[in-house]
Amino acid sequence: MRKNFGKKTIITPLPVVIIGTYDENGVPNAMNAAWAGQIDSHQIIISLAKHKTTDNLLLKNEFTVSFATKDTAAASDYFGIESGKGINKIEKAGFHVTKGEYTDAPVFAEYPLTLECKVVEMKPDTEGYLLIGETVNMTVHESILTDGKIDLGKMEPIMFDSAMNKYRVVGEIVCDAFKAGAQFK
Ligand SMILES: Cc1cc2nc3c(=O)[nH]c(=O)nc-3n(C[C@H](O)[C@H](O)[C@H](O)COP(=O)(O)O)c2cc1C
Repeated sequence: MRKNFGKKTIITPLPVVIIGTYDENGVPNAMNAAWAGQIDSHQIIISLAKHKTTDNLLLKNEFTVSFATKDTAAASDYFGIESGKGINKIEKAGFHVTKGEYTDAPVFAEYPLTLECKVVEMKPDTEGYLLIGETVNMTVHESILTDGKIDLGKMEPIMFDSAMNKYRVVGEIVCDAFKAGAQFK
């Protein structure tokens, strides 16, 4: 038996990306976004409502995208439940910041994988904007590399479970992509 839920939409896994921006005074900010995805090889798309982050993006046109991990789950959630308007969330979370090498946007030491991005387009939509950004550099902690490759098993990224309002760790490898299906050809 199956059950219908009407228009309710669950997309899984939703990532937990952290958008890093600077404001007009150079104060860093971080915002949690789960309505995010990849377009082509080097672009990211994020559904963005009107936030402090949105103002910063319109001002600077540059941002970072980091991925929340098991170790940073609580702070990453905090970045999604308080606005940086008049509050330095980064100081409150005890995070450490350096300016991106390729962008005027903050890189947070606590996140092992960060994309430095430039805004391609902020397309107005009903709730705010569709943000499209292009990666100009990816910076990664060596601690999550295995034989020079990014090892998500070491990184332990989390996903947003919108069915239960929880964060879950992204799990084990089950088989090889672009290979496992060959048996059905
Ligand atoms: C799990 C989670 C996912 C979220 N996803 C988004 C999102 O995709 N787009 C968005 O505009 N806001 C999203 N938010 C809300 C913002 O993160 C939140 O309003 C935040 O306080 C904005 O911060 P800022 O005002 O400092 O920019 C999400 C919040 C949480 C907790």
